[in-house]
Amino acid sequence: MNRILFVCLGNICRSPLAHGVAEQLVNKKNLALFIDSAGTSNWHKGEEPCPHSIKIADQYNIDISQQQSRPITKEDIALFEYVVAMDKQNKTDLEAFGFSNVHLIGDFGNFQGEDVPDPYFFDGFEGFEHVYNMVAVCVEDFIEKVENGSL
Ligand code: 4NP
Repeated sequence: MNRILFVCLGNICRSPLAHGVAEQLVNKKNLALFIDSAGTSNWHKGEEPCPHSIKIADQYNIDISQQQSRPITKEDIALFEYVVAMDKQNKTDLEAFGFSNVHLIGDFGNFQGEDVPDPYFFDGFEGFEHVYNMVAVCVEDFIEKVENGSL
């Protein structure tokens, strides 16, 4: 079974959404994929996703409230066949940590390598709607490519 790890900085806003969207797809299509997410930092270790992420996911019938933030570990390097960064800084940090072949989520779904914007410092909900919409399109395209063997 292939394993996919979605990574952002805090593992409380963006990668929990990618994690939830991917799990919904796995369940819907009955795919043999293990999905997880993590942060390049340990700043929010043990915390649940931020309220706006929980709320936007819930609007799409995805429950991410049981997720807990965790930092990336050295064990993840051998464990996950696919590692997907939410922005270019995450990718740089993952590579510095020792991961190779790190994918950028914005390279999927016709976003031309765009970063998933970090919504943490905006207090509005709109930023999270944009993050959700972008992540949903990119994750679906990414998983399709994993499934058809083109990655
Ligand atoms: P995330 O968002 O990387 O999408 O989980 C952030 C969460 C926390 C911080 C930055 C970004 N922070 O600086 O604490």
